[in-house]
Amino acid sequence: MPTEPEIAPVVDAAHAAPFGTADDYRAATERIRGAAAAYYEGTDLAMDDATYDALLARVTATEQAQPGWVVAGSPAQVVAAGGGVVGDVEHSTPMLSLANVFDEEELRAWAARLDRVIGRPAAGYTVEPKIDGMAIAARYVDGRLVQVATRGDGRAGEDVTAQARSVAGLPAELTRPVTVEVRGEVFMTDADFAEANELRTAHGGAPFANPRNAAAGTLRAQDRAYLAPLSFLAYAVHDLPGGEGLTHSAAMAAIAELGVSTTGGSAAGMAVCTTVDELVAAIASLGALRDKLGFDIDGVVIKADSPADRDAAGSSSRAPRWAIAYKFPADTRTSKLLGIDVQVGRTGVITPVAVIQAVQVGGVTVTSATLHNFDDLVRRDVRVGDTVFVRRAGEVIPEITGAKLDERPADAVPFAAPEVCPRCGGEIDRSQKRWRCTQGRACGATESLAYFAARDSMDIEGLGDKVIRALVAAGMVTDPADLYTLDLDAVAQLERMGRTSATKLLANIEGSKKQPLSRVLTGLGVRMTGRSMSRRLARHFGSMDALCAATVEQLQEVEAVGPERAATIAAELADLAPVIAKLTERGINMVEPGVTPYAERSTVVEGAHLPLQKPDGSPMTVVVTGSVPGLTRTEGNEAVERLGGKSSGSVSKRTDLVVVGDGAGSKAAKAEELGLRIMPSDRFAALLAADDAGESPALDDF
Ligand code: IVH
Repeated sequence: MPTEPEIAPVVDAAHAAPFGTADDYRAATERIRGAAAAYYEGTDLAMDDATYDALLARVTATEQAQPGWVVAGSPAQVVAAGGGVVGDVEHSTPMLSLANVFDEEELRAWAARLDRVIGRPAAGYTVEPKIDGMAIAARYVDGRLVQVATRGDGRAGEDVTAQARSVAGLPAELTRPVTVEVRGEVFMTDADFAEANELRTAHGGAPFANPRNAAAGTLRAQDRAYLAPLSFLAYAVHDLPGGEGLTHSAAMAAIAELGVSTTGGSAAGMAVCTTVDELVAAIASLGALRDKLGFDIDGVVIKADSPADRDAAGSSSRAPRWAIAYKFPADTRTSKLLGIDVQVGRTGVITPVAVIQAVQVGGVTVTSATLHNFDDLVRRDVRVGDTVFVRRAGEVIPEITGAKLDERPADAVPFAAPEVCPRCGGEIDRSQKRWRCTQGRACGATESLAYFAARDSMDIEGLGDKVIRALVAAGMVTDPADLYTLDLDAVAQLERMGRTSATKLLANIEGSKKQPLSRVLTGLGVRMTGRSMSRRLARHFGSMDALCAATVEQLQEVEAVGPERAATIAAELADLAPVIAKLTERGINMVEPGVTPYAERSTVVEGAHLPLQKPDGSPMTVVVTGSVPGLTRTEGNEAVERLGGKSSGSVSKRTDLVVVGDGAGSKAAKAEELGLRIMPSDRFAALLAADDAGESPALDDF
C-alpha cells in the first residue's frame, strides 16, 4: 500500500508529539530503519528528509517521555539509524552525526546550552555549508591517499577507495608528505548530476531521483561503465601533525593548503563569528546563496571554533555537543501524482505537467510541477497514482524528479503520450526533446485572439470567432499585436466582410487601444490569473513596465498571490515579453488609470481588499432584503461583514448596495427609487461562495 505523503512540518524533539503507544513507537523505529537503509544504499529514497527528521524527532520525544519503551539500537541513539552498510574499515574515532535545529529560537537555545555545558561563553563559532551527500573518511599516509571509507554505522564503514580516487577535491597526493585523516562529504554538483542522468539513461538505466542519491549510488558502484563525476569537500581533520590546539577554521585552512577542497573553500565559504547575532546573520547570507552554489546544501553547520570549547563540551553517543546543523526547509519532498496535464504553450511547445497533492517544498506549497518533456517522462516511467519526488530549488518552477517504484499501485498504467496536438489536433514535431505543434504560434492563435477580443478583455466589437478564424487563415494575424496593423483593403476582401464592416472593425480595434491595463492583462491570458487577479495586478503595479520588472517576491505583495502563482506569473510575463513590446510599440495603453506608479510609492499600503470594502478600505453599507439562497437572515448579515461590508436594516441614500432576494418588499422598491446599486441574491450567494473558496472575488465580477 502506498503511504500518504506526510505534509507534517519539520519539528525537533522539543516540539514533537511523543507516540501514544509502545507499538506505534516501535513501528516508527522500524520505518526509520528501513528508510535509513535505503538512504545509505543510495539506490532509492524511501522517505524524504523532512518526513525522516519529523519521525526521528517523535521517536526522540517518545524516548524522553517513556524511557522504558526504548528499543535496543534505537535510531535516535545510534549514528546511522542502523542503515549504514557496515564494512570492514574501522574508523579511528567514531564518525558521528549532528543534532538539528530549524529556527533562530532553537539555535539560541543550543548556544545557551553549549555555554552552560562548558561553563563559560563559547569563544567563537564557524558557519559552513551542510553538504547533502555521503560522509567519508580519507586516510593519507606520507601524503598519499591510501584508504577511503564510508561512514557505515559510525564505527566501521565500507571501503570505497577505488571509486574515490577519481573524486574531485580529494587529491591522490597532498602537497606535502603528511599522514592525516580528512573527513567530509562526497556529493554531485548539479551539472554533474544532469550529466550522470544522461549517461545512465543512455545506458538504459533509470535516472537518479536527486544528486544525493546519485552520489551515494555512484560512490558505492563497483564496476559501472558509466561512472559519473563526484566532488568532495572536507569538513573535519584528524591527527594533523602540529594541529593540536588549532581552531577548526585554522585546521581547515591547513588542509586546504595541503590541496584538499574544504567547505570553507567552496563557493559557500566559511564565516567565523563571535556572537549568536553574527551567527544568525551568517546563516541568512548562506541561505541566500543556496540556489547559486551549483550543488545541494540542506542547511549549515555551526561549530565551536576553539579546541578548548570542543573538549569541554564533548559528545554524546550520536553527535557532538559543540556542533549543530541548522536545517533549511527541504527542497525535495514526496507527494502523490494525481494527474498529468498536457499543456501547449504560446509557441506551440507541448509539455507534460504534473498535478500533485499539495505538499510543502522549500517552504512553499506546491500543487503542480514540471515533468520536463515526454522523453523524460517515459524514461522515468512516472505514472498517475505514483508517489513522486518533488524538488524545488529557489524560485525555479518545481520539478518531478522520479517515482518511488516500490510504492506503485498495482493498477497504475504507463502514461500515453499524445498522438496529436491536444489543442488544435495538428501534427506533433518530435524531432527534438521539446515536442512542438507543427503549427507553432499559429496553434492556439484563434483561441488566444478570441480571448483578447472578448467582452471582459479588450471588448472589440465585431471581432468574433468567425472573423478571427478568417484573419488567422489568411495569415494576417498570429498574435494580438498584429490586430493593430491590419490593412483595411485586405480585411475588406475577407469573405462576408465588405468595406463598411471592415472600416467599423478597424475603428473598434483602434478604440480598444485606450482600454486600461487590467483589460490588456486579462486579454493576454496570463496563466493563473483571471479578471479579478488582472485587476489586482494592474492596481498594484500601475503600469506594464512596473509589472514586468517586478520580482517574484514583489508579485507576492499582491493579495492572493503566493509563491507558486508568483513564479508562474513571472514566467508567463517573460514569455509574453515580445508580444507586450509589440503592443506597446503600436500604441496600446499600458497603464492603469488613477494608480500611483509603483516606483513612486515609498511603501506599499495596499492590504487585503475585501469585495465589500470601498477603494479606501472603509466598509460599504449593505442592506439585505428578501432571502439569500442557503442563508438565514443572520447568516446573510454575517456574510456581509465577512466580505468587508457593514450591514444595515434600512435603505437610505447612504446605502451602497442592496441585496434583493425572493420575498423582498418595500426596501427593494425604495432602492430602485433612489437609484441604488442592486444585486440579486443569487449573485450575492455566488460572490460569497467564491470568497469562501479563497478566490478573492471582486464585487464588479458578480
Ligand atoms: S560536521 C562530528 N560539517 O551531515 C561532526 N558534517 O547530518 C561531524 N555534513 O554526518 C559532522 N556537511 O555527513 C559536518 N560542514 C559539515 C557537513 C557535515 C555535511 C554531514 C555529515 C554528518 C551529517 C549530519
